[in-house]
This record gives sequence, structure tokens and C-alpha cells, in this order.
Amino acid sequence: MTVCVVGAGGREHALARVLARSDDVVVTPGNPGMPGVTPEGHRISVTPAPPSEIAADLVVIGPEAALVDGVADRLRAVGRRVVGPGADGARLEGSKAFMKGILDEAGVPTARFGTYDRVDEAVAFLRTLPGPWVVKTDGLAAGKGVLVADTFAAAEADVVAKLSGASFGGAGRRVVVEEFLEGEECSLLVLCDGRHVVPLAPAQDFKRIGEGDRGPNTGGMGAYSPVPEIDDGLVDQLVYGAVEPLVAALRKRGIDYRGVLYAGLMMTSDGPKVLEYNVRFGDPETQAVLPRLADDPVELLMGVAEGRLSSFAEPPRFVEDPAVCVVLAAARYPGPPQTGDPIEGLSDDGQLAEPVDGVSVFHAGTARAVPAGPFTTAGGRVLGVTALAPSLAEARRRAYRAAGSINWDGVQVRGDIAERAALSRAGGATS
Ligand code: AMP
Ligand code: GLY
Repeated sequence: MTVCVVGAGGREHALARVLARSDDVVVTPGNPGMPGVTPEGHRISVTPAPPSEIAADLVVIGPEAALVDGVADRLRAVGRRVVGPGADGARLEGSKAFMKGILDEAGVPTARFGTYDRVDEAVAFLRTLPGPWVVKTDGLAAGKGVLVADTFAAAEADVVAKLSGASFGGAGRRVVVEEFLEGEECSLLVLCDGRHVVPLAPAQDFKRIGEGDRGPNTGGMGAYSPVPEIDDGLVDQLVYGAVEPLVAALRKRGIDYRGVLYAGLMMTSDGPKVLEYNVRFGDPETQAVLPRLADDPVELLMGVAEGRLSSFAEPPRFVEDPAVCVVLAAARYPGPPQTGDPIEGLSDDGQLAEPVDGVSVFHAGTARAVPAGPFTTAGGRVLGVTALAPSLAEARRRAYRAAGSINWDGVQVRGDIAERAALSRAGGATS
């Protein structure tokens, strides 16, 4: 059997590596760090061919833009088995106004909000909120369309910049303004076959560029899984209170959602609230969650595509060992990154030149001028290193040892990924 993965980033590399435990994987368009043969003897290859031209038994779509564009619909129309919602379901991520509206309708707890296309009305609603103030583009903005402003003036200026099209073009011509929520964030990835849902292990990602959650938002600078505070009971509660009502509301609208529902949650003093839903695997959460999966990933995702998750007697199992993923980003990221720098510390296969136990390297923004030549930087987030170990503290040590053995001009690594969680458990516990 052959599985096709659509996308080119670290998430897709992690998907490919995990799926290639069971079967051969073709990634389109992929990146030059992906090709290889897994220890189980399955091949990962990359091709620029579109997914419709790849002979695959299952297609897993990574990026939200492809889903919003209807790639899943077009593949299903020609009989393919696909993991990823059609354009109707992908609106959950393609329009925050649509997502907030459907959460309200489904009774899922979320921040109080308003949707606006006029500056005066948006500002009037901002005035009713105590601050900090949260202003979001309605449309897709590569994870950068959310401003959490400490001053009213900054929020007001952001509303003007977004609605005028100056800051995000068409994506910002409608905005969602919402109440600020305080608490720990957590990501819960759930597989949905249109009717039934099964949760994967919870994860936490680190969105700001700087340590201590300072500086601008990025696509994600690291992640770990599991999250000590989110035990199985809480996961069940989240599925019951935040995911199943959403799936029911989607069905009511005639949407047969087969793919990943990614709930971005804030654990507030009033209980968990949904910050957002994404329609795909998280990046870099996937790099921390999937390497811990103990079950056959292809069988599970085939169950999603074929609408038969209910035939699985047990929820997916994960190894006890926690995973920590640390992202290595290029100079100037999350602004336009500096690219073309030679990367030191990788061997010919794109993995560590000096291997560290339990560590895998996932390529996101790398290039290679010639097939066996040196890897160079080619994007904002360049690499992710994921370490598994018997404790979170040890997984951190391994991930940072691996990250420290890789270098290029201006490389940025956030030093506090999973630090608080590891300290809170004195680095010992293993669940
Ligand atoms: P989103 O793309 O909606 O998840 O927003 C990106 C990030 O902005 C989230 O991960 C949070 O860190 C932050 N954020 C979004 N909405 C809120 C909110 N209502 N209150 C506090 N922080 C928020
Ligand atoms: N980790 C954030 C995202 O995938 O959107």
C-alpha cells in the first residue's frame, strides 16, 4: 500500500515518518530532508506531481490552505480515500467568523466576541471589553492574524489596519474582536470520521518567538506531549463538551467532516474554553504527538477516511515516554527570514551528524542545491528536533542537546520549551 502526504513542512515530515512505519509514503511537494528508508524498510519519497496523479491508497492533507481550496473534495470526487475535510468543513479555519458562529450555535464555551466589517462598530465593541484586547483577521493569515494588544490604542490601530486591507489584504477586511482569556493553552487533536471522534494525546505548543512568551506570534517554536494537567478524564470532558457538539452542528449543516479537528483551548478559571478550531494536524504539535503513537497509524487514518472509526474498540494508544519538539528557526523569523545559509550538524540523510538517543530531525524549511549536497535554510521554521525519553526533563535535555549540535548563521531556538511542565513534575514522572 502507498500513502500520499500533501505538504512540505515539519508536520508532513513527521506524518511521513510515522506512516512509513507501516507503508511506503510519497510526499508532494515535500522537501529535500524527507526522502529515505525507515527502520521498518518502507520508503519515503518526494515528488512535485499533484496528489491526483499519485497512485496512493490513502491521501493525508497537511496544510489548511489546500483544504480551504477544496483539494479534498476534488480527490474524493475521483474516488480517493482522503484524510482532510472538504471546503465546507475547512471554513472552520478559513473564516473565524464562521467558526465562532458555529461554536455559539453548538453551545461550545468560547470567548465572548463580535464580528465586524466596520471600524466604528468594532471599536465600539472594543470599548466594552476590559483589555487586553484581542483582534483577529476573519480569513487565513498563516497563523499571524491575531493581535493581543496591551493598550486600547494598539487594538484600535490594528482594527483600522486590518479592515482597510493594509495589514492582511482581503483576509483582514472582516475582523473578530473578542474578550481576552487567561490561562494555560493546550492543543487537542481529534480524529473525526464524519460522525465519530477519537482524541489523540494532548500537546502544548509555544507560539511566541521569545522566552517567557514574549514577542510576536510565530507558527510555533516547539511543543511537548502529553500535558500533565490534561488527564484522560479531562480529555473525555473536552470531547464531550467541545468536540462532539461541534461535529453534530456540522452534520446539521450537511457537512461530513473526515479529518483532524484541532481544538486550541484555554484552560481558564471558568473551565476550558475554545480559542479556535483548525482543520488539520498542528505544527509543531504533530512532531510531538505522532512519534508517541503506539498503534498502526495507517489503519487509524484509513478509519477516518472510510468513516469507520467506530469499528475501533479502543482509543489510540500512546507510549508513556513524553516527547519534546524544539524548532530551529532562521534569522529574522517571524519577519521575512534570512535564507540560503548552509546548515552545519546534519549528515547526508538529513538526520543528526552526531546522533542523540531517541531524537528525530524533521525538516520544514530546508533546501539542497544538488541531491547529495549540503542542506541550506529555505524558510522561517527550518528544522524541528523531537526527543522521546522516559521523563519530560530527559526529553528536554536530549532535544536541546540535538538542537545545540546544529548551527547556521543567526539560528533561533527558544530555550524554555516544556520547561515549566518539566519543573512542575521535578522532571521525574513519566505519564
Ligand atoms: P488563534 O489563531 O485564534 O489560536 O490565536 C493565536 C494565539 O493568540 C493563541 O494561541 C493565543 O495565544 C492567542 N489568543 C487568541 N485568542 C485569544 C483570547 N481570546 N485570549 C487570549 N489569548 C488569545
Ligand atoms: N501550532 C499551531 C498551528 O498548527 O496552528
